[in-house]
Amino acid sequence: MEQDAKKDRYKETAKEIAAVIDGEANVIARMATVSNILHHAFDHYFWTGFYLVDPEKPEELVIGPYQGTMGCLRIPFGKGVCGAAAAQRKTQRVEDVHAFPGHIACDARSLSEIVVPVLDKKGGLIAVFDVDSDQKAMFDEIDQQALEAIIEQSFGE
Ligand code: SME
Repeated sequence: MEQDAKKDRYKETAKEIAAVIDGEANVIARMATVSNILHHAFDHYFWTGFYLVDPEKPEELVIGPYQGTMGCLRIPFGKGVCGAAAAQRKTQRVEDVHAFPGHIACDARSLSEIVVPVLDKKGGLIAVFDVDSDQKAMFDEIDQQALEAIIEQSFGE
């Protein structure tokens, strides 16, 4: 996809998400909407969804709302790309997941991914947002900036 077209698509998608979740306080409903709208907006998205910090086990992520093939149910903090994003509270962008130490292959067709930490209004980590592609190196700075902004507008404001 051409870079300008991608930026425009993210802008429209961000607006659509904001309009749909406006006034909806339930976090799962908001997450379901974010994953659904983004997944269907971009051809390079193969798996799109959230892993929630488990309130029963605060050092473990548990599967949340998602779109795509079946995801693993649990990921310990520090393990794989999602676990790294949770432990470091920092976006991870990986061009070749099979070269990433400890990568968890829920579906071997996933080749590149981006994982954005999800913080609530108080700055607490509540989840990570994971997007996988079935092609290598599909996520760049445009994806990162747009996804970080969408996650912030949807959960941090
Ligand atoms: N690839 C991820 C695991 C989650 S799934 O791909 C759905 C990781 O290593 O964190």
